[in-house]
Amino acid sequence: MSFPTKAAITGVHGYVPDYVLTNGELSTMVDTNDEWIVSRTGIKERRILKGEGQGTSVMGIEAVRGLLEKTNIQPAEIDLLLCATVTPDFVFPATANLIAHACGLGHTPSFDVNVACSGFLYALTMGAQFIETGKYRKVIVVGADKMSAIIDYTDRSTCVLFGDGAGAVLLEPNAEGYGLLDSVLHSDGGGVQHLYQPAGGSKYPPTADTVARREHFARQEGPAVFKFAVVRMADVSAEIMQRNSLTPDDVAWLVPHQANKRIISATAERMGIGMDKVMLNIQRYGNTTAATIPLCLWDYESQLNKGDNLVLSAFGGGLTWGAAYVKWGY
Ligand SMILES: CC(C)(COP(=O)(O)OP(=O)(O)OC[C@H]1O[C@@H](n2cnc3c(N)ncnc32)[C@H](O)[C@@H]1OP(=O)(O)O)[C@@H](O)C(=O)NCCC(=O)NCCS
Repeated sequence: MSFPTKAAITGVHGYVPDYVLTNGELSTMVDTNDEWIVSRTGIKERRILKGEGQGTSVMGIEAVRGLLEKTNIQPAEIDLLLCATVTPDFVFPATANLIAHACGLGHTPSFDVNVACSGFLYALTMGAQFIETGKYRKVIVVGADKMSAIIDYTDRSTCVLFGDGAGAVLLEPNAEGYGLLDSVLHSDGGGVQHLYQPAGGSKYPPTADTVARREHFARQEGPAVFKFAVVRMADVSAEIMQRNSLTPDDVAWLVPHQANKRIISATAERMGIGMDKVMLNIQRYGNTTAATIPLCLWDYESQLNKGDNLVLSAFGGGLTWGAAYVKWGY
């Protein structure tokens, strides 16, 4: 039986910085405690990239180098590199350019995708298109964020949630029925005020006043984002199952964006699957924005089997949300 060419994930790797920021340490910085953070979010600790001049690319480079090594692919074989991030090293050039250069990809095209926490799903879908059309044969998709660069560590309702990390996958053509089989992506720019960084872009360039008003940090209306996420991430995950006639028994794993364990549980419930089928590492990394999904795949790689049906789903600033159906290829 022959299948249309799809983009299969043929390798995954990740990187998290060494420094562990525990709930205990956070409780010395803001008025919070381990019990509150764990019961409201599921997070125990997160990783922080320390050091002057250390940007998101540092983590992306580690993830991509590890990916190339483990898949035994030469940098020159890569046709395209995409990097999903909201914390680029610079406003420009793209962090993808920096990663590609440092990893020896030469003049390979590379660019960033900025869709906040849904970034990896969007970039995965884009990368897959280049493979499905036959334009490229080897595409790397990175999700990487140094959230500690834009988190206000005096705002207790936000600073407990986020951490730093990077994950990367290799996409290659597959005509045997494996790979990214479907995806559903959505956005609603009407929700910008619920989750955004007010200053530092072209609308409000940096001034002494924007710095004094702490507008270069992420601003979030937690309960509004929570309500949106519980409905949208659950709905879109159910939608991708329905579109592909997947029953709860057919789904081997839900690979959810790791923002809040309660949002993840609500999504699993809506899909009709138990938490034993849900990839979860929020307790160790918190919300690493574009990196959560590839970091989950990396952590659970040894438990995946060829042919497993995976539902990837995410939501984030924008607002944005989406889901993908992946048949695992190795
Ligand atoms: C942020 C979030 C954890 C807050 O949880 P919540 O149950 O909604 O809590 P609320 O914001 O209603 O706050 C409840 C109380 O806890 C307090 N609180 C907030 N953060 C706290 C913290 N870190 N430690 C202790 N208390 C805290 C609030 O001040 C509030 O106190 P009050 O009742 O005296 O006013 C939750 O709203 C959330 O996860 N939202 C989604 C965020 C998200 O996913 N963002 C990423 C998108 S990609």
